[in-house]
Amino acid sequence: MNNRKYNAVITAVGMYVPDKVLDNKYFESIIDTNDEWIVTRTGIKERRILENGATSDLAAAAIEDLLKTKDIKREEIDAIIVATVTPDMFFPATACLVQDKIGAKNAWGFDLSAACSGFLFAFQVGSSLIECGTYKKVIVVGADKMSSIVDYTDRNNCILFGDGAAAVLLEPTEDKSVGLQDTILKTDGSGEAFLNMRGGGSLNPPSHETVDNKMHYLFQDGKSVYKVAVVGMADVSYEIMKRNNLTADDVAYLIPHQANLRIIDATAKRCGIPPEKVTINIDKYGNTTAATIPLCIVEYYRSGKIKKGDKLVLAAFGAGFTWGSAFYVWGVD
Ligand code: UT7
Repeated sequence: MNNRKYNAVITAVGMYVPDKVLDNKYFESIIDTNDEWIVTRTGIKERRILENGATSDLAAAAIEDLLKTKDIKREEIDAIIVATVTPDMFFPATACLVQDKIGAKNAWGFDLSAACSGFLFAFQVGSSLIECGTYKKVIVVGADKMSSIVDYTDRNNCILFGDGAAAVLLEPTEDKSVGLQDTILKTDGSGEAFLNMRGGGSLNPPSHETVDNKMHYLFQDGKSVYKVAVVGMADVSYEIMKRNNLTADDVAYLIPHQANLRIIDATAKRCGIPPEKVTINIDKYGNTTAATIPLCIVEYYRSGKIKKGDKLVLAAFGAGFTWGSAFYVWGVD
């Protein structure tokens, strides 16, 4: 146990997924694919798509959902961290737009770019703001409108992604037995070549050429990413359990990033965690990037599966490469 005064604890949650569903049958009508391939290779059956609006709308809707369940004033929110790779625009930060949309007039905020590990990285940063004692109410939201950067003619990747957002409110507690206990966070920039969006930034400012070469779309060499992700996510989950003396029996849920059911299964297997203790939403939402982990948290908490005192292991792997794990003890009823 650490010797800080405060731990950061999640005291409220909220989520938003758009109504429009794209099922695997739809993809059969636009590219050369089939439901059986998608389900067996990825575990995805359908995903949600935001037709009108941007990532800030997803994030703001998730926070509005959170605020319905929590008796706090918007002015009390100290900070908003938006984990995303699909910001509304380069600047201002999506967090600023969200701050305005939800009327959190005393909050400061910023975006955090760590792709599929974004929520985990932002969770650590948001928790640090609470742990140091300076801030009392920090919102961390994972939000991505992946449909805005997906090439719907690229059959390797377009079937994978969906849009969504989920948010947690972090507050301080002096009860060290609950809240964020430990994290392991990693980056390896040599992975850039395998998963990126190279157009539009300072390296390749937007031009006819960048558009002609489809550089404004997500690029992924799926097979190469798979090989690294399957080892990276499993190792880091195993490591955090080991260094916190957690056995599979101790863990109530493994909450993994939802990129591929086979990666999730391999991670669970490495940790000895049985399937009933692994949160899954990839079948319904696909890969929502920074939103997968908090969406799992919200749905499993609201359905009564995650309870006070439950020990949770969170794990993610994504572009960068970025990856990591967290050990968290659920702290509220
Ligand atoms: O979230 C961030 C991190 N990202 C990940 O963790 C994703 C990691 N990668 C993956 O999840 C998997 O690599 C994919 C799901 C993207 C692909 O699965 P795979 O088992 O690695 O398939 P593959 O890329 O090796 O393709 C196998 C075959 C190929 O055909 P050939 O060359 O064997 O004839 C592909 O052309 O499947 C073909 N294929 C498809 N077939 C039907 C690729 N996409 C499709 C498709 N429908 N949509």
